[in-house]
Amino acid sequence: MTAQTERKPIDHHLEKVYGATTSEALSAAYLGWAKDYDTDVSSMGYRFPILGAAILARHLLKNDATILDAGAGTGLIGGWLHDLGYTHLTALDLSPEMLHQARSRGVYGQLEAGDMLKRLPFPDNSFEAVIAVGVFTQGHVPPQGLEELLRVSRSEAIVVIPLMKNSWEQLGFKEKAMELEKSGIWQRIDQTPWCPPMPNSSDHKHDLGAVFAWCVQ
Ligand SMILES: C[S@@+](CC[C@H](N)C(=O)[O-])C[C@H]1O[C@@H](n2cnc3c(N)ncnc32)[C@H](O)[C@@H]1O
Repeated sequence: MTAQTERKPIDHHLEKVYGATTSEALSAAYLGWAKDYDTDVSSMGYRFPILGAAILARHLLKNDATILDAGAGTGLIGGWLHDLGYTHLTALDLSPEMLHQARSRGVYGQLEAGDMLKRLPFPDNSFEAVIAVGVFTQGHVPPQGLEELLRVSRSEAIVVIPLMKNSWEQLGFKEKAMELEKSGIWQRIDQTPWCPPMPNSSDHKHDLGAVFAWCVQ
């Protein structure tokens, strides 16, 4: 086995979070990963946070727009958005330990623990943009989680969601996204090419993903 194909601790963490079947199991998996998450995902060349921030910045010209980072984790996206000049960032995550790491970045004005599959602690029409990276995926949040994000989004809000190809094609996101488009709830405004978002992961380097952006109608 070469050094390149050797399994790393991150592959075990990914196995646990992707394999979670309950929110308790998922929270426990992130409890055990929170401290090493940033170093680990950096080692696998994880591109979705920077790509997601870049696509949001392509469509959101207002620096003081209210932005929800849903499933913020340790706040990688908040860090990029802060560096891009956005000033009104809110973090939401299921895991208190991941949120604790996010708080230490000092870039979010508000941080809330919450479950996207339940009612979120925000009024209707709160946000001018929502970004959810690494959240709508295997073992995490199914397409129904979009409903709550749409409730807290204002009309004309930009919604940015990176998705792995298997989530898009096999977990129901393509159907849900098209249903929302047909119902006039949102309009797709952007999509990157499919590319490998984890190019240095031994288990996932060939998996493809793309970043999607929609505008709420
Ligand atoms: C792969 S991490 C992504 C974190 C961050 N967005 C990033 O890209 O680095 C997924 C995050 O989603 C959170 N999460 C999973 N299910 C959730 C739910 N139902 N509600 C809120 N957050 C959730 C997890 O706790 C975890 O922090």
